[in-house]
Amino acid sequence: MAFQHNKQQMMISNYKVGIIGAGISGIAAAKQLCHYNPIVFESTDSIGGVWKHCSFNSTKLQTPRCDFEFSDFPWPQRDNSLFPSYIEVLEYLQNYATHFDVFKFVKFNSKVVQIRHLNNHHHHHEYGRLLSGRPVWEVAVENNQTKIVEWYGFELLVVCIGKYGDIPIIPVYPKNKGPENFSGKVLHTMEYSKLDKESAKELLKGKKVAVVGYKKSAIDLAMECAQANSGAGGQPCTMVIRTLHWTVPSYWIWGLPFFLFYSTRSSQFLHERPNQTLLRALLCLLSSPMRKAISKFIESYLVWKLPLEKYGLKPEHQFVEDYASCQMAILPDNFFSEAEKGMIQFKKVSSSKWWFWKNGIEFEDKTKLEADVVVLATGFDGKKKLQSLLPEPFRSLVVDQSGIMPLGTIHPLIPNMAFVGYIESISNLQTAELRCKWLARLADEQFKLPSVTKMIEQTTQEIQIMKRTTRFYKRLCISTFSINHNDVICQEMGFNPWRKTNLFSEAFSPYTSQDYYF
Ligand SMILES: Cc1cc2nc3c(=O)[nH]c(=O)nc-3n(C[C@H](O)[C@H](O)[C@H](O)COP(=O)(O)OP(=O)(O)OC[C@H]3O[C@@H](n4cnc5c(N)ncnc54)[C@H](O)[C@@H]3O)c2cc1C
Ligand SMILES: NC(=O)c1ccc[n+]([C@@H]2O[C@H](COP(=O)([O-])OP(=O)(O)OC[C@H]3O[C@@H](n4cnc5c(N)ncnc54)[C@H](OP(=O)(O)O)[C@@H]3O)[C@@H](O)[C@H]2O)c1
Repeated sequence: MAFQHNKQQMMISNYKVGIIGAGISGIAAAKQLCHYNPIVFESTDSIGGVWKHCSFNSTKLQTPRCDFEFSDFPWPQRDNSLFPSYIEVLEYLQNYATHFDVFKFVKFNSKVVQIRHLNNHHHHHEYGRLLSGRPVWEVAVENNQTKIVEWYGFELLVVCIGKYGDIPIIPVYPKNKGPENFSGKVLHTMEYSKLDKESAKELLKGKKVAVVGYKKSAIDLAMECAQANSGAGGQPCTMVIRTLHWTVPSYWIWGLPFFLFYSTRSSQFLHERPNQTLLRALLCLLSSPMRKAISKFIESYLVWKLPLEKYGLKPEHQFVEDYASCQMAILPDNFFSEAEKGMIQFKKVSSSKWWFWKNGIEFEDKTKLEADVVVLATGFDGKKKLQSLLPEPFRSLVVDQSGIMPLGTIHPLIPNMAFVGYIESISNLQTAELRCKWLARLADEQFKLPSVTKMIEQTTQEIQIMKRTTRFYKRLCISTFSINHNDVICQEMGFNPWRKTNLFSEAFSPYTSQDYYF
C-alpha cells in the first residue's frame, strides 16, 4: 500500500518494475515484462497514447498493416492493403491488451509527476543488473481526479511517455507580434485533435484557414479543411511551409513495391550501419552512387505522379533524407485535386520568422496572409516532456549537444532505467516490441550488456551515421539500417538474426514483426 505524500513521513511501496505510459510502447513493455507484475502508470483514462489523443477524424495508419502488428497478434485481415483508421488501430491495441491480460497492470488517471534516484553506488565502467533487489527509483504519481500524490519505489523503471503528444511546440514570435494581435482563432493540432467530427467541421467551414507546417499533421489538416469547405461558401486553406519534404501517394513506385528500396537485406546492404568492418565502410562509400540512383528513381516517380513542380513543392534534398529520418508522409487521396480546385494553397517561407497581424499572418518579405483560423501543425516537444520528468544529472544526458535524444533501450549512464519509443523506424510498433522483448530478457539475466564504453561507442556510431545520411537526423531514426539493428538485438538475445526460410527471401523480402516471433 502506498500512502499520500507527506514531507515528514512518507511511506513508499516497493515493486520490481514500473512502466510510465500506456501507449504502444508501454503496453508492449507490460506484456513482455508481465512475469514481474509491473505497474503501468497512465496519465489519461485509456491506453493507446497518440492514437487516442492526437488523432484527427481522418487519421489513418501510414505504415502497412502487416508491418504495424505485434509479432504474436496478427491483424484480423492482415493482407488487407487499406490503411486502417485510428479507430481500428485503437481497437487492435485494445484487443491485444485484453488478449494478453495487460489491463490488470495499468493504473489509469495516474500521472508521474516526479522521479528521484536513490542509489549512489553506480559504477561508470559497467552497467549493473537491471533488477538488483532494492529500489533504485522513486516516482511520485498524482491521481488526476483526487490530486493525491503517492510514491512508489522501483528496481527498474521503463519510460514509455512518447515523443509526440502532450507538449506542443509553439513558435516564438517577435515581441508584441503574437496571437494577441490577431482577431481570429489560433490553436495547435493537439487541441484540434480533441474536437469531434462536427465541431472540427464547424471550426473550419467557411473560414480562411492557415495551417503552419508541411508534415503529416499539417497535410491531413489541410485535407480536412478542404473537405469542410467543399460546396457553396467554401474558403481556401493555405499551408505555410518552412521546409519542403517528399511525400508519397502510396507504397508503389513505378510499379514496384516500396519495401524493395529500403526494407530488405539487399537494399539495406547499400547503407551504412554501425559496427561495420573497414571493408564494409569502403563498400558503402563505393555504393554511394547506387544509393543516390535509388533515391533519384523514387524522386522521378514522385515528380511525374504529383504536380510538385507546378506548385513549387519539389524539395531540394534527396528523398532518402526524408526516408532516413522517418518523416516520409503518405499523401491522402485527392490532396492535389483539392489543390487543383484552389482549396489547398501553399505559401513558402524562407525561415520561421512570421508573426500575427490583426487579420492573419505576416511574413519577413512583408507579404500578408489573411486568415480567420490559424492552426499550428508545428509538432511536439518530446525532449521537454522527458527532461521535465528526470532529475539531474540524468536530465542532461537524455539530450545531446546536437539536439538528439541518444536513447537506445538502455542509456549506458542511466542505471536501471529503460526507454522505449524513442528510436523510430518504418514501423514504430515493431521497433518498440522487439526492444521490449530484449529488455525482458535482459531483466531475466539471460544475457549481459557490453561495457559502458562499448555502448557509448555504439550509440555514437549510430548518430554519426544518421548525421551523414540526413540533415533531419534529430528524429533518431534507424530506417536505413533497421535490419542490422535488429540483428544485433537478436544476437544479444541468442537468436539467429537470419530469420527467413531461404536465401532468396532473406535477400529480397521485407522483415516484418512476424519474423521476430520467438
Ligand atoms: C497522429 C500520429 C500518427 C502516427 N502514425 C504513425 C504510423 O502510422 N506509423 C508509425 O510507425 N508511427 C506513427 N506515429 C508515431 C507514434 O508516435 C508511434 O507509432 C507510437 O504510437 C508511439 O507510442 P508510444 O507508446 O511510444 O507513445 P505515446 O503514444 O505518446 O504514448 C505515451 C503514453 O504515455 C502517457 N504519459 C505521458 N507522460 C506521462 C506521465 N508523466 N505519467 C503517466 N503517463 C504519461 C501518455 O498519456 C500516453 O498514453 C504516429 C504519431 C502520431 C502523433
Ligand atoms: N499516421 C498518420 O497519419 C500521422 C498523422 C499525424 C502525425 N503523424 C506522426 O506524428 C508525428 C508528429 O507529426 P506532426 O506533423 O504533428 O509534427 P512534425 O513532424 O514535427 O512537423 C512539424 C511541422 O511544423 C513545421 N514548423 C515547426 N515550427 C515552425 C515554425 N515556427 N514556423 C513554420 N513551420 C514550423 C515544421 O517545419 P520543418 O520541417 O521546417 O521543421 C514541420 O513542417 C510524426 O511522427 C508523424 O509522422 C502521423
